[in-house]
Amino acid sequence: MTISQALNMAVTHLANSCEKPRLEAELLLSYHLGKERLYLHIHEDEYIDDIEGYKALVARRTAHEPYEYIIKKASFYDIDLAVSSGVLIPRPETELLVDRVASIISREKIEEIVEIGVGSGAISIVLARKFPKLKITATDISTDALAIASKNIKEFGLQSQITLVQSNLMDSIKTTPRLVVSNPPYIANDFELEKNVHGYEPHTALFGGELGDELLHKIIYDTQNRGVEWLACEMGYDQKASIQSHLQRLFINFSEFYQDFSGFDRGFIVKF
Ligand SMILES: C[S@@+](CC[C@H](N)C(=O)[O-])C[C@H]1O[C@@H](n2cnc3c(N)ncnc32)[C@H](O)[C@@H]1O
Repeated sequence: MTISQALNMAVTHLANSCEKPRLEAELLLSYHLGKERLYLHIHEDEYIDDIEGYKALVARRTAHEPYEYIIKKASFYDIDLAVSSGVLIPRPETELLVDRVASIISREKIEEIVEIGVGSGAISIVLARKFPKLKITATDISTDALAIASKNIKEFGLQSQITLVQSNLMDSIKTTPRLVVSNPPYIANDFELEKNVHGYEPHTALFGGELGDELLHKIIYDTQNRGVEWLACEMGYDQKASIQSHLQRLFINFSEFYQDFSGFDRGFIVKF
């Protein structure tokens, strides 16, 4: 089968499982052949040696497996990270959380922070690269996530800046950092997610409890009790009221909520 025929075949298969079947067909073939997309357009009539290998990739995507798991890589901020089914694929809206935290670190001259729920390492790695003197202790409850984070941290040579700790939230951390950042699981257990998310991404990274924001409430409570100065978290678009009343119950006066690219409430900053 030629490149052009293979792409037409893939587009037909992918039509019901992704929004841009032609683009995804090309991206998967570029990955399979180890060539740029432009190569496909210039060599339309070239025969593909391992067509079965390409068909297998298309079949995975047709079954709604996320593209990032298939190519084992996800883009975040200014970097590419290794990902596998054990970790959440980092989302573009989390880049907003990184920017908020970066401005606090820079303004307040913060030298040590903790990240709760490191996942692939996305937040900690970008922050460590922005601030070469920053020390980060990053926790996760999942062994799979810690293994991928460790791989990514090594890939960027950041072992001296980021220490990984397996922990429920901050339970295994004895010191008190000035700032804690977290993008914890915050989706309600019964929320109906798309197939590509629910069927493939780790549920420990997605679901935060019956209401969704239970872990966020716990993180606010724990950080206040420990004497942390700043807390920055991502949250669900419908959780502002619940978080606000939790903050009021704890007599926390300074908080600021921020919105994502679509104008939905997406996170908050607390100054204790
Ligand atoms: C939404 S993902 C965020 C991953 C990464 N920080 C990012 O932004 O892409 C949440 C992460 O929190 C971890 N997690 C879930 N419950 C936890 C807990 N009780 N303590 C520590 N980490 C937890 C999950 O394993 C997952 O890696």
